[in-house]
Amino acid sequence: MSRIISIEDSKSPIAEAYREIRTNIEFSNIDSEKKVILTTSSRANEGKSTVLSNLAVTFANLDKKVLIIDGDLRNPTIHKTFGLSNIYGLTDILLEKLNFMECVQPSGITDLHILACGDIPPNPSEMLASNKMKTFLEIIRERYDYIFIDAPPIGVVTDAGIISGYSDGVIFVVESNGADIEQIKMAKERLLNINAKILGVVLNKFDNKKSGYDYYNYYYQQDETSKKGRKERKKDKKKAGRKSWR
Ligand SMILES: Nc1ncnc2c1ncn2[C@@H]1O[C@H](COP(=O)(O)OP(=O)(O)OP(=O)(O)O)[C@@H](O)[C@H]1O
Ligand SMILES: [Mg+2]
Repeated sequence: MSRIISIEDSKSPIAEAYREIRTNIEFSNIDSEKKVILTTSSRANEGKSTVLSNLAVTFANLDKKVLIIDGDLRNPTIHKTFGLSNIYGLTDILLEKLNFMECVQPSGITDLHILACGDIPPNPSEMLASNKMKTFLEIIRERYDYIFIDAPPIGVVTDAGIISGYSDGVIFVVESNGADIEQIKMAKERLLNINAKILGVVLNKFDNKKSGYDYYNYYYQQDETSKKGRKERKKDKKKAGRKSWR
């Protein structure tokens, strides 16, 4: 089961990195509204659902009304991450078996709701491309400040491309270990061909020990520099003070 570090350790550098992504998304809202956001990647298992869940929590922490929709109708995992049931969900709404209020679940985090997948359908792409899906999202986007939709990898199936047609932006997740540049390029081309707006790329599973880049060290160094700055400023002030007394 994926961990939500933004809940477990909100002061960690990773949670801080999610807040930085949140800020970037908020800034990208200047020209056009970015409230329906999709995550995808070129391959499976790169961390799309993990990134999406953490980001959604980070936005809900800002007192925004947030909904996660599990749009991965092939391998739904969002319900597991939040310890919820997958008995009812998006597919029940699309099949008009139940309405939204009967399917949506509280996540346990204030202002964050979850719409699980529901039964896995035999025809996921068809369901996602249906007019019902389009209409559902048009209605539901008025009820939330942000909607995050999880999707399968775009390099493998077309579903993410279909959902991106209803979204305001896509976050592209790349697993740093063993990323295949050709696959990434192909996935990017697919997204651009369907006019998806790529909001940014999240480099996931980045091993800072292997890379030599140490996040803690970075802050430590920053802090030391600013301390030095303060000491030097004090010295300067003293000097200036002495001058003025002479
Ligand atoms: N930054 C990370 N560091 C370590 N493990 C991670 C990280 N991000 C995700 N994982 C782990 O990698 C696995 C895959 O993550 P996740 O389910 O989020 O990927 P996914 O891209 O949604 O997969 P799928 O393509 O199957 O939907 C999970 O076990 C998750 O806990
Ligand atoms: Mg997933």
